[in-house]
Amino acid sequence: MKYFILFGPPGAGKGTQATAMVEKYNLHHISTGALLRKEIAAGTELGLQAKALIEKGCLVPDEVVEGMIENEFKTVTGVDGFLLDGFPRTIPQAEALDAILAKTSEEVTATVSIMIPDQMIMERIKGRALKEGRADDASEDIINNRIVTYHNQTEPLIEYYSKAGRYNEIDGVGTIEEVQERIFEVMDRL
Ligand code: AP5
Ligand code: MG
Repeated sequence: MKYFILFGPPGAGKGTQATAMVEKYNLHHISTGALLRKEIAAGTELGLQAKALIEKGCLVPDEVVEGMIENEFKTVTGVDGFLLDGFPRTIPQAEALDAILAKTSEEVTATVSIMIPDQMIMERIKGRALKEGRADDASEDIINNRIVTYHNQTEPLIEYYSKAGRYNEIDGVGTIEEVQERIFEVMDRL
């Protein structure tokens, strides 16, 4: 099995690009954000706990998303690999992922990182807010907090995966098609 991490700040285009990637490379897309939103919509206890944190632009506890990921790995079959979107997002989550994969003598194949400047994060998320109505897109304050959370808690993963020789960065500025071409160019080499 291949394990690709689709990395990048909020609004970089992870969800947008994931659709074509899973199709071309026969992968199963796991978005921890989407899984959490499903729990919220279903009104589960986990969803209730996550809702308050997500709506502030904070991360949910590591154990919550780690459990979700391990469950998906166990239950999904018939693919060549997984595309992790929005996970890992902290160093402890990256270490947990390594430990989960080590149980079956596997490892992260590669990280594909989509980078855009902070100013563009704000523009893109404000654009999506008009179409999708996500609670964490609702105000500049929440979006700013997500950007700060990204820089403080998630950005250190760039060094983590660079050191492991598993980090590939692509420029996320450009049309959706241009960014997709850059991603495919990198993926074809992996
Ligand atoms: P999550 O759902 O993962 O959100 P995120 O990382 O903030 O990323 P987004 O989904 O906002 O952006 P995206 O990169 O997918 O961009 P998109 O393709 O939509 O997480 C939500 C929350 O859940 C977190 O804040 C946290 O609370 C919690 N959570 C999730 N995972 C967690 C974890 N592992 N640990 C702890 N907590 C976790 O694109 C954005 C917009 O831009 C769209 O409108 C799109 O159409 C547009 N667009 C995309 N590409 C382009 C382009 N090239 N040109 C122009 N527009 C574009
Ligand atoms: Mg997304």
